[in-house]
Amino acid sequence: MPSCVRGLLALFIVCVLIMPAIAGEQKKTAKTGILLVAFGTTVPEAKVSMDHIDAMAKSRFPGMEIRWAYSSRIVREKLAIQGTLVDSPAQALARMMDDGFTHVAVQSLHTIPGEEFHSLRRTVAAFEGMPKGMTHIELGEPLLSRSDDMERAATALLSSIPSDRNKKDAIVFMGHGTHHPANIYYPGMQYYLSRLDPLALVGTVEGSPSLDDVLLALGKQKPKRVFLMPFMSVAGDHAHNDMAGDEDDSWKSILTGKGYTCIPVIRGTAENQAFVDIWLDHLAAALERLN
Ligand code: CO
Repeated sequence: MPSCVRGLLALFIVCVLIMPAIAGEQKKTAKTGILLVAFGTTVPEAKVSMDHIDAMAKSRFPGMEIRWAYSSRIVREKLAIQGTLVDSPAQALARMMDDGFTHVAVQSLHTIPGEEFHSLRRTVAAFEGMPKGMTHIELGEPLLSRSDDMERAATALLSSIPSDRNKKDAIVFMGHGTHHPANIYYPGMQYYLSRLDPLALVGTVEGSPSLDDVLLALGKQKPKRVFLMPFMSVAGDHAHNDMAGDEDDSWKSILTGKGYTCIPVIRGTAENQAFVDIWLDHLAAALERLN
């Protein structure tokens, strides 16, 4: 048999017999799912934030299975003691792998691409090459990533201020802050806010701008009333205690001690549709990249 005929015969066998078997198997097992990953919270009332995201995600991506994981080990351990078991990202991905998901979009519900986001990125990367695992995993960006996220988030922050605020009242948004280089997103947000409202200030619990920076800015503006709002996805422990608590070292107590009338607003950003839209747009982009 001439070699070209043998070659054609081999090609025929591959095309007719083997390829459909491979394609058929892929077609049969293709299964796409979503994994939402939040830091987590131990404050039961703060769960409204998570429930809100879950409901919005379900209505935006109907028919898609949506699972959850918390990236904070401390939060998961505290919840486990209370009898609530929540998966870590690795546990949730292992489960999805065993449940036959071939394509998974993981969405970070963190605010900045800091430590939690980057460790999630490493976990996701580890699952991508797992034998008999998913064909493809994509990670969606956190709330703040690109400049247009910053602009949208600044507008969303200002739209979330209670309507009884008058123009002379200041508003202080309490972010978490971090020693990670991504802390730069907080002073970055101050820039975008300042363009829209000179009395809107950002402070952080653990990074920069600090409460001292906020006090300095307030000292120059001299407002009588100051609204305090979390710039965190959930109104959890930091919002209840560090921001609005009655202890001497809470922001409310310190600002009250300086003569300002404080109005704390206990509401996480994830309770606000405009913020959830940003996260879900990032999830939609991740789903797009899966195909
Ligand atoms: Co914290």
